[in-house]
Amino acid sequence: MAILSSGVLTAGLWMVPVFMGLMGYMKYDSIDPESHPRDKRHLDHNYDFIIVGAGSAGSVLANRLSEIPNWKVLLLEAGSDENTVSDIPAVAAYLQGSSLDWQFKTEPQPTACLGLVGGRCNWPRGKVLGGSSVLNYMLYVRGNRRDYDLWEEMGNPGWGYDNVLHYFKKSEDNRNPYLAQSPYHSSGGYLTVQEAPWRTPLATTFVEAGMEMGYENRDGNGEHQTGFMIAQGTIRRGSRCSAAKAFLRPVRLRPNLHIAMHSHAMKVLFDENKRAIGVRFKRDGKVQNVYARREVILSSGAINSPHLLMLSGIGQADHLREMGIPLVKDAPVGMNLQDHFGFGGLVFLVDKPVSMVQSRYENMGSVMQYVMYGKGPLTILGGVEALAWVNTKYANATDDFPDIEFHFVAGSASSDGGKQIKKAHGISDKMYNEMFRPIVNRDTWSVIPMILRPYSKGYLRLRSRNPFDKVLIYPNYMIDDRDAKILVEGVKIAIAMSKTQAFQRLNSRVNPYLMPGCRHLVHWSDEYWECAIRHYTVTIYHHSGTAKMGPSSDPEAVVDPRLRVYGVTNLRVVDASIMPNVVSGNTNAPTIMIGEKASDMIKQDWGESTVSIPPPKDV
Ligand SMILES: Cc1cc2nc3c(=O)[nH]c(=O)nc-3n(C[C@H](O)[C@H](O)[C@H](O)COP(=O)(O)OP(=O)(O)OC[C@H]3O[C@@H](n4cnc5c(N)ncnc54)[C@H](O)[C@@H]3O)c2cc1C
Ligand SMILES: *[C@@H]1O[C@H](CO)[C@@H](O)[C@H](O)[C@H]1NC(C)=O
Repeated sequence: MAILSSGVLTAGLWMVPVFMGLMGYMKYDSIDPESHPRDKRHLDHNYDFIIVGAGSAGSVLANRLSEIPNWKVLLLEAGSDENTVSDIPAVAAYLQGSSLDWQFKTEPQPTACLGLVGGRCNWPRGKVLGGSSVLNYMLYVRGNRRDYDLWEEMGNPGWGYDNVLHYFKKSEDNRNPYLAQSPYHSSGGYLTVQEAPWRTPLATTFVEAGMEMGYENRDGNGEHQTGFMIAQGTIRRGSRCSAAKAFLRPVRLRPNLHIAMHSHAMKVLFDENKRAIGVRFKRDGKVQNVYARREVILSSGAINSPHLLMLSGIGQADHLREMGIPLVKDAPVGMNLQDHFGFGGLVFLVDKPVSMVQSRYENMGSVMQYVMYGKGPLTILGGVEALAWVNTKYANATDDFPDIEFHFVAGSASSDGGKQIKKAHGISDKMYNEMFRPIVNRDTWSVIPMILRPYSKGYLRLRSRNPFDKVLIYPNYMIDDRDAKILVEGVKIAIAMSKTQAFQRLNSRVNPYLMPGCRHLVHWSDEYWECAIRHYTVTIYHHSGTAKMGPSSDPEAVVDPRLRVYGVTNLRVVDASIMPNVVSGNTNAPTIMIGEKASDMIKQDWGESTVSIPPPKDV
């Protein structure tokens, strides 16, 4: 805390790249396993596999498929490389709205996002090597074992928990001493997982409060999910461990792996037998084709993979007709859109200087601590320090299948004086001025309650057949009232938590400034909270389900249980789009697992060994 309270020397984040540059010069040489991949300028005409999108799933695929020395693999990525700022955990939200973000927005709908600019929720997605794992808050969460058992019961053999656990562990390099012995974790994989090396005193208060309420302090990625814990993160030595850092950098010198950045795929090319034979893409203003001898794999994420499918003629027949796209296969692409959403405005005031007030931590001392030692307040996971899974009255508490996840933040939209969170969430001036301006720079904490299995499902539509026009997003948040009711209960559990002894030692109390648009309701009633939730709705960025995996008997399925697109050949989708139901947790680790499992299925389908190459020892 000494560093924090000496925070007068506000250096600004521009200092970080300068220091990192110096460090790089001092520490690294050309054989450093963490050097960045090259952007391959001259591509071959033909590859065995073309992977479209270098995100959480695509990075894993590129690594695993290029383990087969006689497979030539091309990884196409629309964005550029990561940088030193995207490596800093605490400033993750700064990347939203930057050139590393696709910057999607939802269409206005009457049930949610009502207090945000234009009635829209922002949907950031990574447009960068590493994809959304470069923008994300680095929380390492796998979901509930039942999620996967249910996927299997829905007709997807091999996707049950006991099977997928192998793939979670295959990726993992867990560096938490207390987890090393757990049968649910492993070490020696590509993806580094550990707790942030720094935390506010509030993080411990949160866990204590949970225990006071009768919950266990436990590893929510272990045998049981229900409970409270300090967050585990995909970080390495205090910096972000994106999927690109984990899976691409160590294999960047493989001669059979070509990585092409700034390459925006426009469509999949088919022959007359509906066999996928290549990809059309645009790079440096030039449209070009590249061909695949074996398979094209879409790993462009849950918004862009369905977009590419529709542009390629795979989608709902009437919609494609309306857009003037020749039909290749009538399929429910872009339907079954699922996401996790929650309430952004559940803020509590405290009387002690214990929170992440920006002016206190964004200073020279913090920058030095981060750059020199990989420690200090800049290492916290996008501001989220701890997590909990709790049961509302709508869940069966003995089932260990909680319906709400808490994201605990030692701060709120008021902590940065309106600089970043306001922009990232698209909070209107009116809401900011009335709810947050009066408490700017005060010590606060918040809980973002998130509904784990929403009933409401949305859909995507093409805006036009121009591949560079973003799709239209209709999330349908809380179109089913039950979702709002569950979230209201989540809010009430968080308020009860603020009344525990642990939080009362700091005199925690709800921010007294009311949500504009909801003041006419009885203050703090269920109706008030529901209104507030519908005004300040936030995505937790877990877009999924838009190319649903399922058996051929499932009319909603787009891909089969081996992730092959129905109705065509040599085309797979491998990313968060294939989740039949969003998992009851955050989606990065599950998507990396999907990448691992798909890699083995592809190797099996082409008669190759699934024995993998371990990562270098020195990362
Ligand atoms: C702000 C934010 C915070 C998040 N926080 C967390 C968290 O803390 N924990 C967690 O578990 N999950 C989190 N998530 C979610 C998680 O990161 C994603 O679910 C996961 O990264 C999705 O992986 P993916 O492979 O499906 O897609 P992505 O990782 O998004 O990858 C898709 C890739 O395809 C590229 N691409 C798209 N279209 C094209 C095209 N036409 N041509 C070429 N390339 C293309 C994109 O640029 C991108 O690199 C967060 C996400 C965001 C955006
Ligand atoms: C709750 O779950 C337990 C354990 O799975 C089960 O035995 C019980 O019948 C369930 N209760 C209700 C009300 O569904």
